[in-house]
Amino acid sequence: MLRVLDARTAPPRPRLGDAVAVLPPPGRVVRIAAPPLLLAAAGSRGSSPAVRGAALSALAAVWAFTYSRYRKRGLQQTAREWELMRTGTLEAFSRHYNECVPTLEEELDLWGEYHGHRHEMRYRLVSNRVRRAVEDAQGPVDVLDVGCGAALVADQLRDAWLRYVGLDFGGHHITFAADKHRNGSPGRLQASFVAGDAERLPFRDASFDVVVWSEVIEHLMRPELAVWEVARVLRPGGTLVLTTNNASEMPLRLPLSDPLAFLEKALGFRHDWLISERPWVWPWPVDRSILPAGSRDVWMPHTWHKQAETSRLFAAAGLTTRHASTFEFPPPQSRTARWLDRRGAAGRRLVDALEAVCIRVPLVKRLGCHVLMVAERTGDPVAPPPPGIWPGPFSS
Ligand SMILES: C[S@@+](CC[C@H](N)C(=O)[O-])C[C@H]1O[C@@H](n2cnc3c(N)ncnc32)[C@H](O)[C@@H]1O
Repeated sequence: MLRVLDARTAPPRPRLGDAVAVLPPPGRVVRIAAPPLLLAAAGSRGSSPAVRGAALSALAAVWAFTYSRYRKRGLQQTAREWELMRTGTLEAFSRHYNECVPTLEEELDLWGEYHGHRHEMRYRLVSNRVRRAVEDAQGPVDVLDVGCGAALVADQLRDAWLRYVGLDFGGHHITFAADKHRNGSPGRLQASFVAGDAERLPFRDASFDVVVWSEVIEHLMRPELAVWEVARVLRPGGTLVLTTNNASEMPLRLPLSDPLAFLEKALGFRHDWLISERPWVWPWPVDRSILPAGSRDVWMPHTWHKQAETSRLFAAAGLTTRHASTFEFPPPQSRTARWLDRRGAAGRRLVDALEAVCIRVPLVKRLGCHVLMVAERTGDPVAPPPPGIWPGPFSS
C-alpha cells in the first residue's frame, strides 16, 4: 500500500551529485558573492560618487539578470507541468488515490517527528478556525471535512459539540478514520464517515455550517467543480476553512542574490499574474503498476494555488474570502528545514520560533509554504462554473 510519499514534505531524496554540489559552479559564486561586495562598495564612506554609482548600476544589472533567468525558467517549468498534467485520467486518479496513497497517519510515521510537528501545527490552525466559526452557534453545528484522510482535524475537535462528517475519495482512508474514531477515547464530537468525490458531493444543498478542506484542492483535476459543490452544501453565512500549497512560497534562494524573486512571490500573493513558477503536478508520475501495460507516464495534479486567483474562484461561486494568510516557513525542501530536522526537539522549538517571527514580518508573512483561506457563503453559485474560471487543462 505504501508506495507514495508527499514529495514536498518527505525528507528529500539523496540526489546524484550531492557530493559535488558543495562546490558551486562559477556563475553561482558570482551571483552569491557579487551583491554583498557591490553593496559594500556602494555603501563605503571612502567610495567616490562615481564608484558608488558604478557599484549600484552593476548591482542592478546582476539582480536584473538573475531575476530574468529565474522568471524565464519558472515560466518554462510551469508550461511543462501544465502539459504533464494533461496526461492525467480519471481511472488513474481513482486507482492512485485508492491503491497508492497511504493514510496521513502512516505517512507521518514515515516522515519523522519534524514533519509530523509541522502537520500538527496545520491541524491546530484549522481546528481553531472551526472553533471560531461556531463559537456563537445556538444549536448543533454540522461540519463537513472534504478529503478528510485519516481525520486528523477531527482528532483536534473531539471535545467540541459538533456533528462531523468526514468524506474521502480513498476507501481505505475512510475505513482507517472510522475505525480510529470508533475505538478512540470518547469525546463530544459525533463523527461519521462517507466515501465520495469532492467534485460530486453526496449531500443536499445547504447541509453544513462549516466545510473544512485541508490540503485537498491541489490534488483535484477540476477544482472549480469542487468549489461549486462546497458552496452548494454550505448554509448561507456558513464558513469554508481551506488550506493548500502556496504558489507564493518562499523561493529556495538567497534573498540578497535574488531579491526580485522574493518580491515577485510576495507581491504575487495579491497580484497573481506576477508569479512565474507554478507547479501543477506531483514531481513523479504515478506508479506504473496501476497503468495498462505499455502506457506512457501519467502525472497527477498537485497544484500550487495563487491566493488571489483562488479568491476570484471563490467569489464566482458565491464565497467571499474573509481571511488569507500563509504558514509553514521555511519550505521543507530547503537546507534550513533539513538542518532543523536533524536538531530533534530543539529544531522543533526553533521552527516554532521562526514561524512566530515570519507571520509578523510584512511581505515575508506571505511566503509560507501553505495558504490558509477562510471564506463565507454570501451568495449563490451560478451553475455551471463559467468557462475559463480555472486555468487547468481539464477545465473548459
Ligand atoms: C494530503 S491528503 C489530506 C488529508 C486531510 N485533509 C489532512 O489534512 O490530513 C489529501 C486527501 O484528499 C483525498 N482526495 C483526493 N481527491 C479527492 C476527491 N476527488 N474527493 C475527495 N477526496 C479526495 C485523498 O484521498 C487524501 O486523503
